Amino acid sequence: MEEKVIEESKQGTSMVLETKKENQKKLFIESYGCQMNFADSEVVASILANEGYNTTQVLEEADLVLVNTCSIRDKAEVTVRKRLQMYNAVKRDINPKMKVGVLGCMAERLKEKFLDEEKIVDMVVGPDAYKDIPNLLKEVEDGRDAINVILSREETYADISPVRLSSNGITAFVSITRGCDNMCTFCVVPFTRGRERSREPESIVEEIADLWSKGFKEVTLLGQNVDSYLWYGGGLKKDFEKASEMQKATSVDFAQLLDRCATQFPKMRFRFSTSNPQDMHIEVIEVMAKHHNICNYIHLPVQSGSTRILKEMNRQHTREEYMTLVDNIYRIIPDITLSQDIIAGFPTETEEDHQDTLSLLEYVRYDFGFMFSYSERPGTLAARKMEDDVPEEVKKRRLNEIIEVQQRIALERTKRFIGQTVEVLVEKDSKRSDKQWSGRNSQSTVVVFPKENYKPGDFVMVKISDCTSGTLIGEAVGYSEIMN
Ligand code: 5AD
Ligand code: SF4
Repeated sequence: MEEKVIEESKQGTSMVLETKKENQKKLFIESYGCQMNFADSEVVASILANEGYNTTQVLEEADLVLVNTCSIRDKAEVTVRKRLQMYNAVKRDINPKMKVGVLGCMAERLKEKFLDEEKIVDMVVGPDAYKDIPNLLKEVEDGRDAINVILSREETYADISPVRLSSNGITAFVSITRGCDNMCTFCVVPFTRGRERSREPESIVEEIADLWSKGFKEVTLLGQNVDSYLWYGGGLKKDFEKASEMQKATSVDFAQLLDRCATQFPKMRFRFSTSNPQDMHIEVIEVMAKHHNICNYIHLPVQSGSTRILKEMNRQHTREEYMTLVDNIYRIIPDITLSQDIIAGFPTETEEDHQDTLSLLEYVRYDFGFMFSYSERPGTLAARKMEDDVPEEVKKRRLNEIIEVQQRIALERTKRFIGQTVEVLVEKDSKRSDKQWSGRNSQSTVVVFPKENYKPGDFVMVKISDCTSGTLIGEAVGYSEIMN
């Protein structure tokens, strides 16, 4: 099972939506976990905007506090539990009328526990039940606990146009699939987010057209496993075999969807996340190579470099197959950037398996990565069948060794841009100085350069003169052709 990147700096961000004058009630919504969760919070805020709620960043004045939660590792759940205690302290001491709701992956995993045993929340809503929130709120108003954690076979929220919370107005996320069928043995997501289903292409294209008309310049197509996207008129991915001949003949896969988006919006830049090696096909790489406006970047989690561990993880590919995929990607798009997710200390992992992971890093030469030590998740196959037998200090040491190798390679990889002129989409002020813009190149590396007369939303050609391990430093040499 794949996940989108979890950005530490964004965890717990509370989000604000422009005010609707007639709305009287105040919603405080906070998100944890992956980009998918952040995108879902935008769907929820959109539903609640029609129920009289404006968002606020002041917790104490909120009528409704929602926390969109993540279950991927134990640490994520611990953080959310602490936040819930905080909300409850505010409710007890400052704002007794405040209602608290749990959304997302923990809602599904812990269900009644929040309501019955711990009595810390008023409402529990799973990832497929957000449209039921208006009804659930009525239950809460009547003094009843409200819960809906039913997972759906169809729900993709295709008919809801999400409001963009704390957006820079330039880059946005658009969900294309929900759920995951891969059943990696370490991963809780198939249980929290259910079976894989794809969203209708028309509604995806409409959402992108709307973003374009509002001035957005970059869209990231989101899903737990985007390469597995398959539209054949609705229904679960696993039921495709049962589809009619007509449905099969007119089906749309990820390569086709990507091709359509890039063709129809030639001046919009496209990214996607996350790719699962076993579902990433050469057609997708070819479509990427064909379109200038599809970024040369693939997040391609590998989890381990050992074929034996990959098998224990149920990853459906060997080390060698992954290497062949990487060879093909570099052959078709030599200038591409790859990033990884890796788990250190999966059950039964030996020193030799760990060495295989280190040597895979050297082989692939990822530009960056997201590395974790194994955290057993209740209900997963690994938790049921395998003992969490790698000692914590060994996990930690292996993780540090992986991070060290990755950081060295990252710096080497980033240096390759020095002397090159790269196309940058300007997003915002640089963190260090308000005299510099910050944006990203096609490979998703952050680039900073003096502002001159450029503005956010411009595509600018920047000549790179220096770098740190994660940031390129340069000077603008003019607009990109994409601006013509
Ligand atoms: N323990 C540690 N890391 C995990 N991930 C998923 N499940 C676990 C777990 N049980 C990591 C994977 C995934 C990323 C989002 O989180 O590397 O790709
Ligand atoms: Fe996203 Fe849920 Fe996975 Fe967390 S557990 S990363 S919120 S899908």
